[in-house]
Amino acid sequence: MKALVLSGGAGTRLRPLTHTSAKQLVPVANKPVLFYGLESIAAAGITEVGIITGDTDQEVRAAVGDGSAFGITVTYLRQEQPLGLAHAVLTAREWLGEDDFVMFLGDNFLIDGIEPVVAEFTGARPDAQILLTKVTDPSAFGVGEVDGDGKVVRLEEKPRVPRSDLALVGIYLFTPAIHEAVSSITPSRRGELEITDAIQWLIEQGRDVRSTLIDGYWKDTGTVDDLLEVNRIVLERLPARHEGTVDENSEILGRVSVGPNAEIRNSRIIGPVVIGSGARINGSTVGPFTSVAEDCQIIDSEIEYSIVLRDSRIEGVHGVEASLIGRNTQVTSAPWTPRAHRLVLGDHSTARISA
Ligand code: DAU
Repeated sequence: MKALVLSGGAGTRLRPLTHTSAKQLVPVANKPVLFYGLESIAAAGITEVGIITGDTDQEVRAAVGDGSAFGITVTYLRQEQPLGLAHAVLTAREWLGEDDFVMFLGDNFLIDGIEPVVAEFTGARPDAQILLTKVTDPSAFGVGEVDGDGKVVRLEEKPRVPRSDLALVGIYLFTPAIHEAVSSITPSRRGELEITDAIQWLIEQGRDVRSTLIDGYWKDTGTVDDLLEVNRIVLERLPARHEGTVDENSEILGRVSVGPNAEIRNSRIIGPVVIGSGARINGSTVGPFTSVAEDCQIIDSEIEYSIVLRDSRIEGVHGVEASLIGRNTQVTSAPWTPRAHRLVLGDHSTARISA
């Protein structure tokens, strides 16, 4: 069995971060979302992994390499344009050959991993198997209808009026039957070849499409709110680690992971928190639920429930919360009175300021 991991696409909802970098590489607890997926593929015993890439091909290759760090062998498959999830399967046709495969969307996060579902699929070997989970906003997803035996009777991509509250999780198991399906469908109203339509085609042909209802934590990390929430969940489970230096004027409360060469002075860290290698925290309160990446500086500031990407500096700023701060970014206080806000924000940025 092979794995096809989708790490192309545009990532419009995570702009401006994704103007310059892949949405699948945004870190959660200081590790790219994509890596959690690759780890769960390796844990399921799958070693042959194809990664679909697009405009951010170079960045994904630089991060994942040949896959040996994960115990897998990676083949990169370039998709010229993000024409849809079924188009990605067409792109990978030759590499997939006649093997069964698990297709894993690179921005999806499934806390319990894929081992049980891979075992279920290889045992029963239906033509296709999907994962469904209950959500409150089904119209943002592919939506599935199932009968009493878990057999899928109908699938619809982002329906205006959903027929159930069961969303399609971005992890699919396929036999080569999917190849005829992806060649038989036409683009959807958003102009993409939808994998949802390809699976629906299989159902219409009377093929065996099964579903597994999952109740463990799952998120599509497509928005900032989703990323912050996954970050919180991962931090909840992160083991404490103390590799940096913490001076005697600092207080570490709860589970905190401090990377090599990080320095914490005159500060209060309220776990769960992860602080990357080489980061400097001085005169600040950090946490809970905060990830500070490598080589950041947080000075005379307060930050909670946030993600700070590497090489950024926050200085003299209080009350930062629910924030996603990009790489190499400066957030500093303005000394002027009357109070003023001076902003240099990239295209598609979001700033919320208490007036
Ligand atoms: O996350 C689950 C949802 O994923 C499902 O419920 C939907 O049925 C499914 O269509 C998909 O919806 P999204 O609109 O969230 O898909 P998105 O465009 O975000 O793409 C998912 C991943 O696949 C993302 O990592 C980018 C990558 N991708 C996407 C497209 C369209 C590619 O590699 N190539 C592509 O052509």
